[in-house]
Amino acid sequence: MQARIAVIGATGAVGREVLQVLADRDIPPGQVTALASDRSLGTEISYGEDDVLPVSRLEDFTFQSGDVAIFAGSAQVASLHAPRAAAAGGWAIDVSDAFRMEVGVPLVVPEVNGDVLASPPKKRIIASPSTGAVLLALTLKPLHVKAGVLRATVTTFEPVGEAGRAAMDELFHQTRAIFVNQQVEKQEFTKQIAFNVIPHVGSFETDGSTRAEASLQRELRKILDPDLKISATAVRVPVFLGHAQAVHVDLGMALSAEAARAAFKTMPGITVIDHRTDEGYATPVECASAGCARMAAPTPPSPIGWWRTICAKAPPPMPCKSLSG
Ligand SMILES: NC(=O)c1ccc[n+]([C@@H]2O[C@H](COP(=O)([O-])OP(=O)(O)OC[C@H]3O[C@@H](n4cnc5c(N)ncnc54)[C@H](OP(=O)(O)O)[C@@H]3O)[C@@H](O)[C@H]2O)c1
Repeated sequence: MQARIAVIGATGAVGREVLQVLADRDIPPGQVTALASDRSLGTEISYGEDDVLPVSRLEDFTFQSGDVAIFAGSAQVASLHAPRAAAAGGWAIDVSDAFRMEVGVPLVVPEVNGDVLASPPKKRIIASPSTGAVLLALTLKPLHVKAGVLRATVTTFEPVGEAGRAAMDELFHQTRAIFVNQQVEKQEFTKQIAFNVIPHVGSFETDGSTRAEASLQRELRKILDPDLKISATAVRVPVFLGHAQAVHVDLGMALSAEAARAAFKTMPGITVIDHRTDEGYATPVECASAGCARMAAPTPPSPIGWWRTICAKAPPPMPCKSLSG
């Protein structure tokens, strides 16, 4: 029997993308259950081109053995219900930060460390990293294998879509309000986001960094190398979708631009776009797929740097098929 797939947070920005990925992979609608809060009870949601799914209430859903539950809601929702799915003998895959740093819960970017799932986790919960960490892990991995990344200095340009539907609405409403000379209202962001940039993503940590900045290092250490050093600056930008990062790395050994470019090309999900002409690089607007763009590589031993974009759509597909038991 095919596993049932429950998508929790199906009406949200990430949940809709998860449903799209499942439909694109020809998972029959009868195998998929869309779950959300009380607010969505009785509504329907599109599934692929032709189907709709009724949205059910998570609270009322009984998980069964073998179910795959994809949690695309808040950390609070995952903390409460992922253990329920696991206890029933299902698998919980969570995109929030509820379990990312929990011991015994693998934090997985399939192309980078998917092998950690060779022995399925006893807790039956798998965490998906933040978009920024996925992006960085995909580009650091091939360089790390080739020349040992000692430190990465990263500036992340985070779209409002990363903060959910309400945040996207806020950018839209503020932009319109400014055009028609109305009062700008803020709720999701601490400063005006329209026509602005905000160097504050997530709460502040005791050392003055923000959660987005600190978690980049924590997550990359768990995914790639416990000794990796990351200096990060995370900036919220008035872009709806599409993450971008500017990265400079210090490597353990010299690597030519050609060798770095060749290493990037071995990584699934990366396209090197480095034409060094007008429009010869990728930006969030056109990055329907991941792109690694505009590399700058002075003569070694100077650090190699690059500009990297990805569309903040669905989290990367998890290799559910490799799970058993
Ligand atoms: N957006 C991104 O690019 C991105 C990237 C990586 C990770 N994430 C993470 O993914 C998660 C979802 O983000 P999002 O942007 O999709 O958020 P969102 O657009 O605000 O959607 C939240 C979803 O959670 C549901 N929900 C809220 N309370 C619930 C409850 N008590 N029980 C069941 N469902 C509930 C909502 O259902 P209703 O419609 O019924 O309220 C909605 O479907 C977050 O943890 C976020 O940090 C987001």
